[in-house]
Amino acid sequence: MTDVIRDLARLRECVAAWRAEGLRVALVPTMGNLHGGHFSLVELARRHADRVVVSVFVNPTQFGPGEDYDRYPRTPEADVEGLRSAGADVAWMPAVEVVYPYGPEAAVRVQVPGIAEVLEGAHRPGHFDGVATVVARLFNQVQPDVAVFGRKDYQQLAVIRYMVRDLAFPVELVAADILREDDGLAMSSRNQ
Ligand code: PAF
Repeated sequence: MTDVIRDLARLRECVAAWRAEGLRVALVPTMGNLHGGHFSLVELARRHADRVVVSVFVNPTQFGPGEDYDRYPRTPEADVEGLRSAGADVAWMPAVEVVYPYGPEAAVRVQVPGIAEVLEGAHRPGHFDGVATVVARLFNQVQPDVAVFGRKDYQQLAVIRYMVRDLAFPVELVAADILREDDGLAMSSRNQ
């Protein structure tokens, strides 16, 4: 049974109850429009923890001006259906003001030097800082023991590893292999 939670106090209660039982908690951060690649992350998370929280949140701070934030596919009902079949314990689906109480423009930001500024970062200024900013918030909200990220977004994984070490987040990172379509294309929400 997947519990859909949108309220931070309720999320904290739920995770605190698991902790009181000595259970290990995993987080799988996503932006929704879930597909087989995401469900394989849930399965991997399950192998590393007793309970799995999947966050579904389209993060405004990682989209640049003119990028596809408004057009990014949002399919919350189908996502919850999929998470039920995949056996996730909680779908964490916060509104923008729950993640950014002062609004995205007035948010405290995490800026990752070096690795966030090259390759894709050079073409999308601020993108990886937006990713680091939201992942730090999700870590603080969920307080997972372990978090699973796909190797598909390899630079993102490197940015998060850097942040976790530098800010001493007590979170173990698990990197998941790429899942591909029959024609070899890496599975991605944007393929749709
Ligand atoms: O990879 C993604 O879907 C996003 O960048 C993430 C890690 C969920 C942060 O919004």
